[in-house]
Amino acid sequence: MDYTNLEKYKNWLKNNLNEERYRHSLGTAECASELAEKYGLDKNRAYFCGLIHDCAKCFPKEELEAIMCRCSGLCEGELDNPKTHHAPAGAILAKEEFCVEDEEILSAIRWHTLGKEEMSDFEKIIFIADKIENKTRPSEWTEPIREALSEENGLNKALLICYKNTIKSLVDRNLKICKTTIDIYNKLLDMV
Ligand SMILES: [Fe+2]
Ligand SMILES: [Fe+2]
Repeated sequence: MDYTNLEKYKNWLKNNLNEERYRHSLGTAECASELAEKYGLDKNRAYFCGLIHDCAKCFPKEELEAIMCRCSGLCEGELDNPKTHHAPAGAILAKEEFCVEDEEILSAIRWHTLGKEEMSDFEKIIFIADKIENKTRPSEWTEPIREALSEENGLNKALLICYKNTIKSLVDRNLKICKTTIDIYNKLLDMV
C-alpha cells in the first residue's frame, strides 16, 4: 500500500466527516507520524492510520448500527455506548472501503476508543495521537500527556494519564466504567 499518495482518502474523508472532525483527523495523522518517528516506527503508515481512524465517526446512527451488527468480539458495554461504535465500524469500513489489509492498522482503528490490555507501540501511538493532536484538542488536556511522552517509558505513562482522564470524566458524569477500562488502568499502573 502506498502511504504517501493519500489524496483519494482525504477527499473521501472531506465528503464523509464534518469540518472539525476532518481537522481532527489531519491533526491525529500528523501527531501519529511524529510519534512514530520518535519511537522508530514507519511514520507514513502511522500518518495514514491516524488520518482514517475516525472514518465512521459521522455516519448516521442507523448506518453505524447496521455495520456494528457485523462486528464480532464487542466488549461488555460497548453496544450501550454509541460514542464507541465508530471504532469497530471504522475498522470494517477501512477494510471494505479503503481495502486496508494491514491487521495492525485495522486493530489500531478498532481499539482507538476503548483501548485493550495488549497494545503494540503502533496501537498506543494511534490511541495517544487521537487524544493529543493540536488542531482540535485543548492544550490544557494535551500538555501533561505530551510531558509524560518525553520521559522514559513515555508511551505507557502517557496512556496512564489518558485512562485517568477518562475514568475521572466518567465518574464526574455519573456514567458507568466498563471493566476493560479498569483492567487496563490497573495494568498500566503496574507498568509505569
Ligand atoms: Fe474516534
Ligand atoms: Fe479521533
